[in-house]
Amino acid sequence: MLDYEKIKVDFPLLTKQINNKNIIYFDSACMSLKPRQVVEAMNEYYLEFPACAGRSSHKLGNIVTKKIRESRQIVAKFINANENEIIFTRNTTEAINLLANSLYLEKGDLVLTTDKEHNSNLVLWQILVKNKGIRHNIIRSDDDGNFDFEKYKELVKDAKLVSMVHTSNLDGTTIPAKEIIKLAHENNALVFLDMAQTIPHKKIDVKDLDVDFVAFSGHKMLGPTGTGVFYGKYDLLKKLKPFLVGGDTVEYSTYVDHKMLEVPEKFEAGLQDYAGIIGLGQAVKYIEIMGFNNICEQELKLNQYITQEILKNPRIKIIGPNDPNMRSGIINFYIDKVDMHQVALMLDEMSNIMIRSGQHCVHSWYNDKKIKNSARISLYFYNTIKEAEELIKNLNKIIQIL
Ligand code: ALA
Repeated sequence: MLDYEKIKVDFPLLTKQINNKNIIYFDSACMSLKPRQVVEAMNEYYLEFPACAGRSSHKLGNIVTKKIRESRQIVAKFINANENEIIFTRNTTEAINLLANSLYLEKGDLVLTTDKEHNSNLVLWQILVKNKGIRHNIIRSDDDGNFDFEKYKELVKDAKLVSMVHTSNLDGTTIPAKEIIKLAHENNALVFLDMAQTIPHKKIDVKDLDVDFVAFSGHKMLGPTGTGVFYGKYDLLKKLKPFLVGGDTVEYSTYVDHKMLEVPEKFEAGLQDYAGIIGLGQAVKYIEIMGFNNICEQELKLNQYITQEILKNPRIKIIGPNDPNMRSGIINFYIDKVDMHQVALMLDEMSNIMIRSGQHCVHSWYNDKKIKNSARISLYFYNTIKEAEELIKNLNKIIQIL
């Protein structure tokens, strides 16, 4: 069971008021709130041992080296990876860029994505199509918005890389990763999964999935902004080309040559965000204390309530399945001919209810469907049914006005 008195202490923002009203935060798919423990761990770095990891062998440097190693171990254990398979990045986007630039992709190689990709897993493939002559193909969802396995079966035969969003930030649905990966491997294709929207909500075991590469961001999982993780199977990481190079990536250099360090250092160029990485380790610890069963149970309870209430209004359309069991912590909706930015702005203005509106970095999907924009409620375990009731009350008022 989640202890909301304790959660309120850990997330002081939840008790803060603006214009005499509490803040109601329903935008965690974009950016989660941060518990006190994460912020305190970062402050501790800056105040107590603000030195470099891995290079300075004085006392403060040694503390940072130890703390960074601990964070790497915590993150590795969290997804059942090995320590040297965890590369710290700035975010998911940087991790995908690392992959795209480091894989030996050549002219004619086929990359498969879904039709619900965030720009982070779309634009870079389009650029490689132009610059290198790779091929990019999209598995369009079936009429119900589900992953189309039959189409995938055909296209994967020729693929070099399957690069897909695992849980969608658009509609909260999750693709059948295990089956997708198995079939990809049978066809000698590698699989990358964008798990930015999965890792905060669901236990992931990379070994059990047998996935080749994974990326996720710290800022959606209680961690600091500017932190992310790129996971890869060690043998595959060893074969990847370096991406960003320079300080901390080489064992030695001469005026004409250099020798790269091993994985993961090979991919972590320059001074890192040590405070952020330490904060990320604390974020993982906090999620583990909350427990995925509790997290999912709370999200589902709220999603069921909000879905049932908003579907009472026949003008509202939910993107993705109506069944809340299939939409993680996301309720993304629109009303024909209504600018959904208006809805989000009014919720904020009237009652400090913070949701995101727009095309959610999945412009390609909206443009294809000719939907102008939508309003997205995204949940996390710190949200309560009382907040959800306040949301529905205000939403109903707004929809009558618009
Ligand atoms: N991908 C983030 C979101 O969906 C930015 O809000």
